[in-house]
Amino acid sequence: VFSVIERLWSELRLDRRGTVVALGGGAATDAAGFAAATYLRGVPWVAVPTTLVGQVDASIGGKTAIDIPQGKNLVGAFHWPVLTVIDPTVLSTLPERERRQGEAERIKTELLAGRPLDARAAAAYKAALCLRDPEDRNERRWLNLGHTFGHALEAAADFDLPHGEAVALGLLAALRLSGRDTAPVEKLLAPKPVHVDRDRAWEALLRDKKVEGGDVHLVLLGADGPRVEVRPPAEVRAALDSLIA
Ligand SMILES: NC(=O)c1ccc[n+]([C@@H]2O[C@H](COP(=O)([O-])OP(=O)(O)OC[C@H]3O[C@@H](n4cnc5c(N)ncnc54)[C@H](O)[C@@H]3O)[C@@H](O)[C@H]2O)c1
Ligand SMILES: [Zn+2]
Repeated sequence: VFSVIERLWSELRLDRRGTVVALGGGAATDAAGFAAATYLRGVPWVAVPTTLVGQVDASIGGKTAIDIPQGKNLVGAFHWPVLTVIDPTVLSTLPERERRQGEAERIKTELLAGRPLDARAAAAYKAALCLRDPEDRNERRWLNLGHTFGHALEAAADFDLPHGEAVALGLLAALRLSGRDTAPVEKLLAPKPVHVDRDRAWEALLRDKKVEGGDVHLVLLGADGPRVEVRPPAEVRAALDSLIA
């Protein structure tokens, strides 16, 4: 949030040799990372994520951002932390609801990797993808598995749907379109169909940045691993509808 960033800018007392240490959830590390990216045109920062979302997702990959009234993550910068400290013991106080948000991203990463991953291993997997493709043109896009559907549901729910729950539903759709068993996701994340308007959700999906020229580009799981595929709109719409109560 902007007032937080203004305070950081005005209260930081650092020269270029100083380092910002960000301790907290994704909201805190995104904001402190953005302050570090912009203060003195960039000072180093260290991320110490204290939520599962932070440990497996938000503090990995160098994206920092703040929300402004015009939109989420609208102002930001790529600024990799010099170090990310992942200590699973800090999660002991995390409320179950917050943990479930991170579980959805961790399980998404397991599906991409094709093997079980704890938080640290999921973080390492994401870091490797981001280092190989820092500009989001190739493998990094795999991290959108389930997100095209998830974002559409979030938009249709006026963002009154936690991101992790939307992603859990999106993973179901991605698994179905990939011809994969959905049982593991149903068992681990127990996603429940949401009450949103079907047409609104579909329109939101079509506005998604992965839709080019009417074709829907989706991250799906093939025999050799993840890949970006084009699927006919009717098939995609049916998969989206299956997530809506
Ligand atoms: N930069 C990226 O690539 C990226 C990726 C994913 C998400 N994000 C961003 O991350 C944010 C969500 O992060 P989040 O899910 O960590 O939420 P959050 O930062 O809002 O934290 C959730 C809640 O948990 C509390 N909390 C934090 N650590 C705790 C602990 N150890 N014990 C008890 N409570 C604790 C926080 O105070 C807060 O109330 C969003 O703003 C999202 O846009 C960024
Ligand atoms: Zn996500």
